[in-house]
Amino acid sequence: MSEITCLGVVGGGFMGSGIAESAARAGLSVVIHEPEQAPLDRSRARIEESVRRAAQRGKLSEDEAAEMLGRITWSTELEALTAADAVVEAIIEDARAKGSLFKKLDQLLPDAIFLASNTSSIPIAEIAAWTRRPERVIGVHFFSPVPVMSLVEIVRAIDTSDATVAAADALAATLQKHPVHTPDRAGFVVNMLLVPYLMAAIRMYEDGFATREDIDEGMKRGCGHPMGPLTLCDFIGLDVMYAIGESLYEEFKRPDFAPPPLLKRMVVSGHFGRKSGRGFYEYE
Ligand code: CAA
Repeated sequence: MSEITCLGVVGGGFMGSGIAESAARAGLSVVIHEPEQAPLDRSRARIEESVRRAAQRGKLSEDEAAEMLGRITWSTELEALTAADAVVEAIIEDARAKGSLFKKLDQLLPDAIFLASNTSSIPIAEIAAWTRRPERVIGVHFFSPVPVMSLVEIVRAIDTSDATVAAADALAATLQKHPVHTPDRAGFVVNMLLVPYLMAAIRMYEDGFATREDIDEGMKRGCGHPMGPLTLCDFIGLDVMYAIGESLYEEFKRPDFAPPPLLKRMVVSGHFGRKSGRGFYEYE
């Protein structure tokens, strides 16, 4: 597979915008696609703000910041992705939505292009089954905030070829991310370990065992975590946490993965955490 100079990103949310920003910082051209204009405008504003902060902190010159933004195109046209050498999908955690997107990408893009999903919990094999190129479908799972976190999980599905794994490794290297390799199993490495811990923190709070502040300060000050677990849940998004917990529970039927009743109540009430202004904490 040839070198990647232009990366396509489908989904301009927190993850998709972060992936696009990392790619543009690494010198790649980037096309971000969303079918609606409003999320694209939010994506552009988010990336511009992040780049402005980086420039203010002296990490980029004004010229470099402008060049970096100039490498990114935001488009409502799926066809704009034909400029890309590889595509990373970062849309909602919904197997049908991802499947039908991959079907369209498969029909649109040349056979040599590999298609990656940033899913944290949907089987890559299930997504790949919607395409005629399952050997060129792979999981490339980023961590938020993407420009800061240096890990990607590279997830090989049952039909993924060695060449596709090598191409994903090369993409990770270009983006200056450290790859860890895992088979296609819910949770991969990190969420398999992280999710039971976060669900346990929610249960502890739900039971009234300790305050949200004491739970968070306990893990920050006692274990040196950059964020306490309830703050981290708000940061990841409670809807995302719920979806990951459900997938892990469905796969392994282990109660420590199951979303606690409080998490479900918060999600159905629209309390998604930082992005909606309210989760375990309140945000401006
Ligand atoms: N975009 C770009 N850069 C950002 C950023 C963002 N959204 N947020 C913070 N940064 C940068 C800052 O510019 C700063 O950079 P420098 O030090 O080089 O100047 C650095 O990160 C630290 O930022 P701050 O000083 O503002 O704040 P902080 O020290 O509190 O760090 C944090 C913020 C990096 C988010 C830190 O709190 C942290 O590491 N939290 C834990 C995050 C985590 O666990 N992520 C994984 C979630 S799990 C996941 O993503 C996978 C899944 O499937 C659920």
